[in-house]
Amino acid sequence: MKYKKIGDILILDNNSRNEDFEGLSKKHNVKTIMKIDHIQGTRREPVYEVLYGSETETINKENGCLFKLDLSKVMWSKGNNNERLRIAKLVEDGETVIDMFAGIGYFSIPIGVHANAQEVIAIEINPNSHYFLCQNIELNKLNNITPILGDCMVETPKFKADRIIMGYVKTTHHYLKAALGSLNEGGILHYHETVPEKLMETRPIERIVSQANGRDVELLKINKIKKYSPGVMHVVIDARIY
Ligand SMILES: C[S@@+](CC[C@H](N)C(=O)[O-])C[C@H]1O[C@@H](n2cnc3c(N)ncnc32)[C@H](O)[C@@H]1O
Repeated sequence: MKYKKIGDILILDNNSRNEDFEGLSKKHNVKTIMKIDHIQGTRREPVYEVLYGSETETINKENGCLFKLDLSKVMWSKGNNNERLRIAKLVEDGETVIDMFAGIGYFSIPIGVHANAQEVIAIEINPNSHYFLCQNIELNKLNNITPILGDCMVETPKFKADRIIMGYVKTTHHYLKAALGSLNEGGILHYHETVPEKLMETRPIERIVSQANGRDVELLKINKIKKYSPGVMHVVIDARIY
């Protein structure tokens, strides 16, 4: 049986059969057991089933950060944990960062905890995620994160930043123009895309260049996060834009 533990909640793999849930809860020291069938829509909301217990809110500890979340309302991708810390470690002292798809603070919280940014502007469209983002700023005692409830297409152009994180997949390229318009000269973009493996080295960077309005684009890294579906990879492009 495959499972993952998020805080004190156990998430069973979709293929797992009926189990002795009470025994399983004792063995793994969890209050609730759930299945999450898939994550749906642009707001990335879980389609789930509670198999044991009732509480779906928990606090997950990762990379020295605390993330309060309700697994019936917002998503958590365990496979992105290295990326969450990698980005925090890249942020230099005094930077202004825009986190365009902030969720519950997947990137903003580790930046607040591990880096010394001037400000992190954390934009999120889903009120439930924004609520937990605000909770997580308090829980981690951070004072340099500005949470904004809204559409990053509308909110991003109101700011300028040295680094912009685009932690969203499928239609991320639609938001490139807004991101690039707010990125300072010499600033860094972290652009996520789910891309067929054979196009990994070309399509994402071509999409960035096509929206850069003639600015020079320096490819710094293509970071593979995880397999998204057969033949499709979730990648992050780090690019400096002059
Ligand atoms: C769930 S995160 C992706 C996961 C994250 N990269 C990680 O490390 O696990 C994507 C977030 O973008 C938000 N979102 C989608 N469209 C948006 C928009 N136009 N403006 C702001 N936030 C948006 C979703 O509500 C969601 O919370």
